[in-house]
Amino acid sequence: MSSDLVFVLDLGSTKAVCMAARATSDDKIEVVAMAHADCKGVKRGAVADLDDSAMAVSEVIRKVSVALGEDVNRLVVAIGGSHVEGVNAQGFVPIVPQSRPINSDDVLRVVNHSRQLMMPPDREQIQAIPREFRVNGQRGIAKPIGMNGSKLEVMTYIVTGHTPNVQNLERVVQMAGARVDGMVLMPLASGLGVLSEQDRELGVVVVDIGGGTSDMAVFANGSIAFHASLPIAGQLVTSDLSKLLKTTPDEAERLKLRYGGAVASMVPEGDSLDVNQIGQEVPRPMQRRVFCEIVESRMRELAIMVRQQIERSGFTGMLPGGVVLTGGGSLLPNTEDLFETNLSHMRVRRGVPKAEGQLKHSLNRPEYATALGLARYALDTAADEYDTATGDGSWKGRVRSLFSMFGNK
Ligand SMILES: Nc1ncnc2c1ncn2[C@@H]1O[C@H](COP(=O)(O)OP(=O)(O)OP(=O)(O)O)[C@@H](O)[C@H]1O
Ligand SMILES: [Mg+2]
Repeated sequence: MSSDLVFVLDLGSTKAVCMAARATSDDKIEVVAMAHADCKGVKRGAVADLDDSAMAVSEVIRKVSVALGEDVNRLVVAIGGSHVEGVNAQGFVPIVPQSRPINSDDVLRVVNHSRQLMMPPDREQIQAIPREFRVNGQRGIAKPIGMNGSKLEVMTYIVTGHTPNVQNLERVVQMAGARVDGMVLMPLASGLGVLSEQDRELGVVVVDIGGGTSDMAVFANGSIAFHASLPIAGQLVTSDLSKLLKTTPDEAERLKLRYGGAVASMVPEGDSLDVNQIGQEVPRPMQRRVFCEIVESRMRELAIMVRQQIERSGFTGMLPGGVVLTGGGSLLPNTEDLFETNLSHMRVRRGVPKAEGQLKHSLNRPEYATALGLARYALDTAADEYDTATGDGSWKGRVRSLFSMFGNK
């Protein structure tokens, strides 16, 4: 069974998710087994407690192994947070003898050439994603292999991370008894989880509103072109509520899930709720609109940050696919309305991933966008993987092209 299965891990700020998935005959994703567990070891996208994180990862791996009846020992893992940066780079190689057909070695050489960037000593490259190839100056080529040419160029999106954070994530997976088979930029995974190929071709933004961070990516011409990690997400909204209303974090979370909304003026006037405050025996009644104003002010700040990052990306006005919100935080009612108001002229909608198989009803939720996108990535790139010239066998050296995902199949 295992030969066609991929195993993925999304270690988020609130939960760890492990899935075993395979492609169906019509190229959809069938999740064969999945497990999730609460996890408090990750703060703002980075591992902050090795033991807590490893415990959650062990648990989800074990549950998936038991469900499958086989070991899960290699995982494609999402990596995000503010330490992960992206830069657009270019590579160039001559094809000798001239005009012979381009082969996979040439592709590897040109991608490796684009990776020759000066890196600070505490940072390392995580992924080099080919965005576009050019053969003899002809642009927009997704699959150069087999074409004749004398000059091959590539534009790549190089993802880099703070080395200690990358190592800690790898360590957590090792402590749980598995090894990392590849790391994928988190908002790239979330984008693959909820966006169609057409969206990515047209130009679109995905914003994964999680617990600790909101990770966003801009896709244009079929590929990722920009990403950013923002420090505002669901847990900050909960912590605002808990501080201002003088409640425990658990009570604030409960109230948020039950009464929360991102646009206070959309709450019917007269609605109220009872707040159990710390040290008070009698709950305090509160207008729901006032409650939602607290939520709205933080979510508005997030929407404004998203707008600023879109401006920074240089793609303003070139994103007809609009903004797609996903992640657990996008379940807050009226979040799309709030974003639409603050992102003038952009279409905003919620994106939910789609999986097949017996588990699909529990999986087709925005919290699973990253994990399902990882499965999509792992399945689509498995056949297009090249080993690097360095050949140390580790995931870091490998180039996984996105040709079969991005561009003509
Ligand atoms: N119905 C809901 N309304 C409002 N918020 C919700 C709802 N459901 C979940 N959330 C929020 O979603 C957040 C968790 O989302 P998610 O599971 O995507 O995070 P994560 O992947 O663990 O974290 P991160 O991606 O930041 O590392 C929590 O803060 C939770 O309060
Ligand atoms: Mg997440």
